[in-house]
Amino acid sequence: MLKTHSCGELNKKHVGARVTLAGWVDRRRDHGGLIFIDLRDREGIVQVVFNPEVAKETHETAGELRSEYVVQASGAVALRPPGTENPKLPTGDVEIIADKIKILNTSETPPFYINEEVEVEESLRLKYRYLDLRRKRMKDNLILRHRVVKFIRDFLDDRGFLEVETPILIKSTPEGARDYLVPSRMHPGKFYALPQSPQQLKQLLMAAGIEKYFQIAKCFRDEDTRADRQPEFTQLDLEMSFLEQEDILVLFEELLISLVETVCPQKRLVKPFRRISYAEAMECYGSDKPDLRFGVEIKDLSKILVNSEFTVFRSAIAGGGRVKGIAVPGCATYTRGQLEELNQMARSLGAGGLVTISLGMCDGGIDGLSVEMVKSVASKFLSLEQVKQIARALGARPGDLLLLVAGDGDLASVVLGGLRTEMGRRLKLADPNTIVMGFVIDFPLFWWNKEVGHWESMHHPFTAPRDEDMCILDSAPEKVHGKHYDIICNGFEIGGGSLRIYNAALQKKVFNMLGYKDEEIIERFGHMLDAFNHGTPPHGGIAIGIDRLVMLLAGEESIREVIAFPKNQSAIDVLLDAPSHVNEQQLNELHLSIREE
Ligand code: AMO
Repeated sequence: MLKTHSCGELNKKHVGARVTLAGWVDRRRDHGGLIFIDLRDREGIVQVVFNPEVAKETHETAGELRSEYVVQASGAVALRPPGTENPKLPTGDVEIIADKIKILNTSETPPFYINEEVEVEESLRLKYRYLDLRRKRMKDNLILRHRVVKFIRDFLDDRGFLEVETPILIKSTPEGARDYLVPSRMHPGKFYALPQSPQQLKQLLMAAGIEKYFQIAKCFRDEDTRADRQPEFTQLDLEMSFLEQEDILVLFEELLISLVETVCPQKRLVKPFRRISYAEAMECYGSDKPDLRFGVEIKDLSKILVNSEFTVFRSAIAGGGRVKGIAVPGCATYTRGQLEELNQMARSLGAGGLVTISLGMCDGGIDGLSVEMVKSVASKFLSLEQVKQIARALGARPGDLLLLVAGDGDLASVVLGGLRTEMGRRLKLADPNTIVMGFVIDFPLFWWNKEVGHWESMHHPFTAPRDEDMCILDSAPEKVHGKHYDIICNGFEIGGGSLRIYNAALQKKVFNMLGYKDEEIIERFGHMLDAFNHGTPPHGGIAIGIDRLVMLLAGEESIREVIAFPKNQSAIDVLLDAPSHVNEQQLNELHLSIREE
């Protein structure tokens, strides 16, 4: 090795030792006769001092050093002179008195500072990702990611899970997104699909008797990118045979608790995990992945307002709809402009409008409110007593802003859920150091797709219906629940899974309900039905998005920050410039031609 130690490991214990270090020049300072460089490698930074009285030529060479030069330096570890210690650096008590230096490579001036945590435009960071990854924050994220994956591997290995790799060139597997396709050179006109997940393969591994499988698996989905979505991402994919739903939930609660407590002990993890039904999540939070770090729950106010003089409320309820609301803490002083902005947001989420009620400050809590303290377009139609009832139902306090939406009950929840998320963000209601995970269970098996006129899976077509709902599969599919569970964390879905269908007739029936014709089922999924007819055991599993999990543990707001080489928001790899054109010969070999648009 070109080094005996890493920069970051040196401390008082090494004083007197002779070391050779290699790394990058993080910073150089000339102080009269002395030159100081901060030498950086993956493990940290240490100060190296060049003194012409110690080694004249070495000192001269040090004068040529610039930021990001790659150097090898040798010398003795010494205590820094009293008063010059740097308590911010783990190596801040010591320095290296260099007597040798070799420039291993030079560097052009980097396009942004590596040694300072300053905001840099993302496109520039992605183009020079290898420089971006030299920055401490990014390096720490990659180290955290490594620890997370290593912890998961060890944990599952201890519990008898076998890591099995599954292929990347496969046949389309439906997870609800578009496939990335790979043309076949050997089979003109035919395509492989990149896996949206290893779903079918892991089920086939259960048919194969593997019993406990997992994989850190690459998945590919051609869908619009978002802060928490990439075209290419990584899952902890897992499947087990002979299990019940409880086994998976208990296993993952144990895994995630021990993972967070080991890898991120500084975070406050709320235990035990909450379990909420899909219906409750939608009713109380207007989302199937609510941020449970703060309250602001949605409440149904229809009983209070059923006879309201306010037509919007009365007619919504009379028409079978509901009036629902939330109390936003401390926002009673919102200006007309700010209220209008919330109104616009409610409309963009699908509401007909938003009714706001500002509760003025007063002593004595809600009971102390007077008519003058209540401000709302609806106030002339609402009695003070009604306002107080609404406020109490919403758990509001004087000074709060009440947001009410009337209309279809589910839509009202979704709109208020959107407003809850936005206000939670604006008011910083969620503690960034707290992690609240939970399981969402009891999902409906299907949702009705009006546009295409057939049922769609809430999860994917391999999810089993609940046993007690089998009798209504034909008569009332909308009421059938699936054996499906999600894991949520701080407002994100980080994982999802289910117990699977393992009976060929039931699987075929579900495919039929999803609009697949018999020939298509055989063509696309014949192998699954065959496997089910050859002694496939009861099985189920789950997949966790590693990128999302690490993003949340790292306190980042985008999964791009925890992926070494991510695509940008337009699904472009800016560093490699992919996708890119290929030459005519490659196209010919693949039997492809590009159509001029
Ligand atoms: P699902 O589609 O819910 O389930 O995906 C599981 C988890 O993968 C993560 N994820 C993503 N992360 C980043 N970018 C994306 N485009 C992306 N899409 C999904 C999420 C999500 O919760 N085969 C099933 C699992 C099973 O049934 O066992 C599946 O893939 O964190």
